[in-house]
Amino acid sequence: MTRVRLGVNVDHVATLRQARGVRFPDPVAAALLAESAGADQITVHLREDRRHIQERDLRVLRETVQTRLNLECAAADEVLSIACKVRPDEATLVPELREELTTEGGLDVVGGGARLAEAVARLKEAGIMVSLFIDPDPAQIEASARLEVEAIELHSGTYCDATTAAAREAELTRVEEGAALGARLGLMVAAGHGLTLQNVEPIVAIPQIEELNIGHSIVARALFVGFEEAVAEMRELLFRDD
Ligand code: PXP
Repeated sequence: MTRVRLGVNVDHVATLRQARGVRFPDPVAAALLAESAGADQITVHLREDRRHIQERDLRVLRETVQTRLNLECAAADEVLSIACKVRPDEATLVPELREELTTEGGLDVVGGGARLAEAVARLKEAGIMVSLFIDPDPAQIEASARLEVEAIELHSGTYCDATTAAAREAELTRVEEGAALGARLGLMVAAGHGLTLQNVEPIVAIPQIEELNIGHSIVARALFVGFEEAVAEMRELLFRDD
């Protein structure tokens, strides 16, 4: 029996706080509850427009998180400087568009050029483990391995959003093949985006997937059952038979 590690993304606790411009709910409090319910990692995305997580959240989380802190960020100078100063355990580089509701699509590692390579080098020099958030596309996975990062996070959003059984099956196959390729190339393979209690199990069953990062569905569920219960319910589904 293997348990896939659970990274809980607390961004949307901050989204609610920012909607009122007040001090609560605090994503730091949510992170503490997530850890006490068995989360293995806390994930936050410091966006350029600061729409949810603020620099203060990142600093306080760095001091309070007892598991691991995974910072999602764009390969942009300002946020990379903050990352190198705060030194999360891991940085996951993601594409970032100002108009998007959430991260849409994976990073273009194939076309990432010197800018991406420099971002990876900067983070590694600061002693931060680097992961790249990419679509389950063989070319992107191979390019990630060439950049010598330690991990990739496969974008599960297309699988989650598929509206027909055939499309979902095809997307699941892409994630399965991508995970196998990533592991063969020596990368730690995570997945994330759009995962819910209803769609997570086929992803958990993929033998090479070691970690999932899940935010929206846990925060949404927490409104009705409480934060710890929402994390615990998800964690229960992350076991697979080997
Ligand atoms: N992983 C990455 C890289 C993300 O950008 C996000 C969204 O911030 C997530 C996981 C979590 O996605 P969701 O909120 O849909 O669970």
